[in-house]
This record gives sequence, C-alpha cells and structure tokens, in this order.
Amino acid sequence: MTNSAAIMERYSQVMFPAAAPYHGDDPLVADRAKDQYIWDVEGKRYLDFFGGILTVSVGHCNDEITERTLAQLQRLQHTSTIYVNESMVKLAEKVAALTPGRLQKCFFTNSGTEANETAVLAARMYTGNPIVITLRHAYSGRSMLAMSLSAQRPWRLGGVVDPYVKHVRNPYTFRAPAGMTREQVVDLCVQDLEETIATSTEGRIAAFMAEPIQGAGGFIVPPEDYFRRVLPIVRAAGGVFIADEVQTGWGRTGGKWCGIEHWGVEPDLMTFAKGMGNGSPIGCTIATPEVADAVKGLTFSTFGGNPVTMATTLATIEYMEAHDTPSNCAAQGARMAEKLAEFAAEFPIIGEARGMGLMQAIEIVQPRTLEPDAARAAAFVDSCKAKGLLLGKGGLYGNVVRIAPHLNVSGDDMDIAMDIIGSALAELS
Ligand SMILES: Cc1ncc(COP(=O)(O)O)c(C=O)c1O
Repeated sequence: MTNSAAIMERYSQVMFPAAAPYHGDDPLVADRAKDQYIWDVEGKRYLDFFGGILTVSVGHCNDEITERTLAQLQRLQHTSTIYVNESMVKLAEKVAALTPGRLQKCFFTNSGTEANETAVLAARMYTGNPIVITLRHAYSGRSMLAMSLSAQRPWRLGGVVDPYVKHVRNPYTFRAPAGMTREQVVDLCVQDLEETIATSTEGRIAAFMAEPIQGAGGFIVPPEDYFRRVLPIVRAAGGVFIADEVQTGWGRTGGKWCGIEHWGVEPDLMTFAKGMGNGSPIGCTIATPEVADAVKGLTFSTFGGNPVTMATTLATIEYMEAHDTPSNCAAQGARMAEKLAEFAAEFPIIGEARGMGLMQAIEIVQPRTLEPDAARAAAFVDSCKAKGLLLGKGGLYGNVVRIAPHLNVSGDDMDIAMDIIGSALAELS
C-alpha cells in the first residue's frame, strides 16, 4: 500500500538528503490540492498558509488559470527564444505596465536564482564594474553567484566566495544592538554601507541588491526611510539598484504590486519568480531600457519565455487584477497583523510579530533572554500541521515562523488559521 512512510523510505534512497522536507520525522507527502487546501497521501486535508513558499499565489489548481494553461499546451508548447510567441510579448507588456518607474524590458528564465543572475549580469555590463553589495540575511538563490549574494550561513554551500560580492548590515531592528532606536539602526546601516564602499571597493560599484522585505531572512521589514537613505549612496558610487521582488512581488505586501513601492525609491532592475506564475517555473528580470540594452552579445535560456509558462503567468496576473488581490492582501494582512500582535502580547515566546500584507511572521524566542528558539519554532510548525494548518519557517537562526497564505485568502480561512495558531501557541508556551 502506498503511504507516506513507504514513499519517504524510497525518497531517502534516491534523493539528495540536502533537499530536506519540513516536519522532520513526519513529512507531508502531498497527493493533490485545490484552492486553499492540500491533501496528503493518507487523505488528510490541510489549510495551506505557505503556498509552496509564497508561490501558489492564487490557489492550488486554480480553474481559471488551468483552463488557459491547457489551451496554450494544446496550441504551442515550446519554441525556445529562437522564435517569438505572442504570450511572451503580452506578459512582458503586462509586467512593464504594472512595475513602477522606467522599468520596461524583460528577460524570462525559470527561477528566482536565474532572474537574479541576469540582473547582476546586466548591472555589471551596464556599469563596467563587478562589485555587488547585498544585505546580510539576504537569500538570492542557489547558483554559485546567488549563494555568494546570499548572506545566511546555512544556505552557503561548497566553498562559495565571489570576491566581488560585499555584504553590509541589514536593518534588522529586532536583533540590532540593545537599546537602539529604529533611527539609530538606519544610521548604523548607512554608516556600514559608506564604510564598505570606502574600504572594500575602489569607490565605484555595479549594484546594490536588496529584498524590499527580507523573505528567507525571516520577513525582516526595514524602517520606512531605510531605502531612501541608502540609495543616494549607491547612486553616488555609480551603482544601480536591483530590487529582488521574488517574495514581495505581485501584491503580497498589500496595496501595491511591488514591495519596493512602499519605500519611495525606484529600482533600475527588478527580479520576480515564485508567486508570479502560481506554481509554474518562471523567473523574470525587468530593467530600464538603457540597462537592458547594455547586455550585448549572446545569452539565452532554453525554457525562458516558454509559451505555456508565459500563458499561465499572464493568466495569474490577470486573475490578480480581476480579483484585486493587492487590496485583499492589505485587508486580510491587517487582520492577521492585529491578531499576531495580540498573540505577541499574550505569549512571551513571541519575541516579535512583524510583516506587511500577507507576509507576516512571528519570531520565536526564549522568554526573557530573547535568544532564538529554533526547536520551539519547529515544534510549533509541527503542531499547526497536526491541527491541519501548514506554515513556513525561516530566519538565519531557524526560529521565525512565516505565515503567507494565498493572496485571495478569505476572512473565514484567516479566522480558522488564527484559531489554530492561538491554540498551538498556548500548548507550547
Ligand atoms: C528573495 C528570493 N530571491 C531569490 C530566490 C531564489 O529563487 P528560486 O528558488 O526560484 O531560484 C528566493 C527563493 O526563495 C528568494 O526568496
């Protein structure tokens, strides 16, 4: 008989152990999914509040999207970029229309990693400079360059060191030196950026790359003026700004299509993946015309711009527009934030509740010392699973619980999830 244990036994024989599934001894072996639910092979149903890592953005096997995927699959499946398909052009036009500022030209790939690789390539060719500055606690992907850009020890494997990547202090106010105000944290970050450029570069850089809210870092939300303070320093050093919107894009942060729009600055490049295609493998880099045009010579991605992925992604974004999901993210996100703040006041194992829109987190700590408590965070996520709710984990110390439901989540599902979270917190406190 097929069951989770038997499948996991076979899994361990044929898969790299580094691709470790959640929930330790009792991993979820998925059988099927529909809208907000996912069922395991034993038939147990779960309310999914992590969406395959912020990727199933408008519901599993969404009928409106599936219909368009199938229609495209039956018409034209693959050409590679040596021939053009109209879905690709339509999607690029849509992305250009919905992103802020002068972003206009797209390059399509298959993942966030590749989108970030492309952005760095373009920044380096545009500026003629190799230096890229990124933030500590960033996660940028799993290629050798993307692991270099990432600044979390657990995600840097294989002796990865790109000498042209420099990391600077991130505005992680909860874990800043004791007693510092938010203003002082920003001052410290600004100072670190200035000192890094002055001491570790020749004074010129290619790019500053950052997530508007750090995702895998544990949904770290910067102070409101952080980006406005650092961008002039980046520009003065000749650098362009790459906003990594892989987690924050497509309305997730509430009210705006892109996370960076909350911070009052305009990027020269933006990268997307994950929720953009509701589960279809896509990476997208969009740049201003002059930056895009600087990538001279030959480069291509066999599956980049694949007609089926393009049609699915366009259908996903049109679904978001038709259902005004950015507004739903703002409304349901506000309800979730209010509830999590109540839990933070009630349960001392929550060091901080933070987030924007449908990207909210609780940082689990040892009461009093505020030391990260990864074991309790894992136990909490396991307990929620046992109660039928799927959540994510994250943070450098593995102690941040990430809550990121579908962008079209209903108020009723939000209430159910908050009840489960409340009862799991009570149990573990
Ligand atoms: C902000 C950010 N950038 C890039 C990536 C890499 O994306 P992918 O796993 O699709 O390569 C991720 C993945 O988690 C991410 O969160």
